[in-house]
Amino acid sequence: MSLTTPGTLTPVLTDRWDKDAPYTLSSYRDNGGYQAWDKALSMSPEDVVAQIKDSGLRGRGGAGFPTGLKWSFLPPPDGGPRYLVVNADESEPGTCKDIPLMMADPHVLIEGVAITSYAIGCTHAFIYLRGEVVHVYRRLLAAVREAKEAGLLGEGLGPRGDYNLEVTVHAGAGAYICGEETALLDSLEGLRGQPRLKPPFPAVAGLYARPTVVNNVESIASVPGIINHGNDWFKAMGTEKSAGHGIFSVSGHVKNPGQFEAPFGITMRELIEMCGGMRDGHRLKFWTPGGSSTPIFTEEHLDVPLDYEAVGAAGSMLGTRALQVFDETTSVVRVVRGWTEFYQHESCGKCTPCREGTFWMRQIMLRLEAGKGQPGDVELLDEIAGNILGRSFCALGDASASPIQSGIKYFREEFEAGLTTPARELFPYEKTAVFSEAGLR
Ligand SMILES: Cc1cc2nc3c(=O)[nH]c(=O)nc-3n(C[C@H](O)[C@H](O)[C@H](O)COP(=O)(O)O)c2cc1C
Ligand code: SF4
Repeated sequence: MSLTTPGTLTPVLTDRWDKDAPYTLSSYRDNGGYQAWDKALSMSPEDVVAQIKDSGLRGRGGAGFPTGLKWSFLPPPDGGPRYLVVNADESEPGTCKDIPLMMADPHVLIEGVAITSYAIGCTHAFIYLRGEVVHVYRRLLAAVREAKEAGLLGEGLGPRGDYNLEVTVHAGAGAYICGEETALLDSLEGLRGQPRLKPPFPAVAGLYARPTVVNNVESIASVPGIINHGNDWFKAMGTEKSAGHGIFSVSGHVKNPGQFEAPFGITMRELIEMCGGMRDGHRLKFWTPGGSSTPIFTEEHLDVPLDYEAVGAAGSMLGTRALQVFDETTSVVRVVRGWTEFYQHESCGKCTPCREGTFWMRQIMLRLEAGKGQPGDVELLDEIAGNILGRSFCALGDASASPIQSGIKYFREEFEAGLTTPARELFPYEKTAVFSEAGLR
């Protein structure tokens, strides 16, 4: 049940994006920025953790784990360092919320980093950014410098002047697997980015084997609003178990794609309406609720409330709310082949089911797309995906199985057609293109 009026937007994180130079400290402060940091410093760290725990904020990086609960897992202080690491790797196909957020409003993230660090007793926080986005890297570096020069970060913080906080922005080399929290930690330590065996979990032995909180950009950026406005305000948005506001990124065959910050529980039908509908003369064929690693949905799922529970009950996952929309001109086989190539390319090679399975799934998808499938290919594909799912070392393997299994579930006949007919013949690719030489279709 949605506690907010259906179909309404709740701009909180996106509210400042159209202000004049919203990425500057002066603009951020003119719009209420860093008031939550002052407020948090007047509270005890334990009270900040308790407030975030009670707010119902769940991690915005995909899995939806309760944020305050994660913070509370850190063992009691032992005099050694404890770390906050912000996951800004954002590489899931279709996901495009953290990068625009950091580009438009880096200070809300830095304010969230300051509050979270204080709450968990961390004096050195890291933001691990996907390497390709050099423009965002520069923007974050500039924002950290501005905050430090203004005395908001650095030494002698707080009413007693006894709290110090250093923030390091680190640009990775651009690997999807480095978004997996333990691979990220290895990469940050200068090692090859591959997932670690868990337990121990990062809360106990994370960065440099010290207690560490890893949280997504949007999770941490949501913290200042909660501290400023309180838990009743936050809980009034969204659903009972999926509280608050979230950025929904709609891309693909809609008239006006973009970011829509809305309460959890909004539906895809409402979001498509906000986008001005499907492009003229076309109808919806399938969509992803949370990026390419979440099982696809079809028209029958348009009214599923986009919260963790309802999307899960309907057979997919909310993931990163990367809603990719495909109309009837699209070849499912072609799209799934593209995603499968992505997962094969990004597989880190550490475990056999994912390393070998993604390789074989890619081979089969390529021949199905070319209309050169062999008898039994669809069954084999489904079997390989089934053998990867739940048997891989990390969730990247599971992710590679999702588009294949859900694609076959809803559009098996298109996969079977790949035994005789090229996808390009069934679905001429130029009809799917959003742009033509003449411009937007
Ligand atoms: C292959 C893979 C890639 C991931 N990429 C990201 C990412 O880019 N950003 C992110 O926040 N979480 C990503 N995650 C999830 C993280 O492992 C982790 O759950 C998340 O950073 C926790 O933050 P949260 O609790 O605030 O959501 C990825 C997970 C996997 C398995
Ligand atoms: S599932 Fe894939 S990405 Fe994850 S550890 Fe295994 S090989 Fe690496």
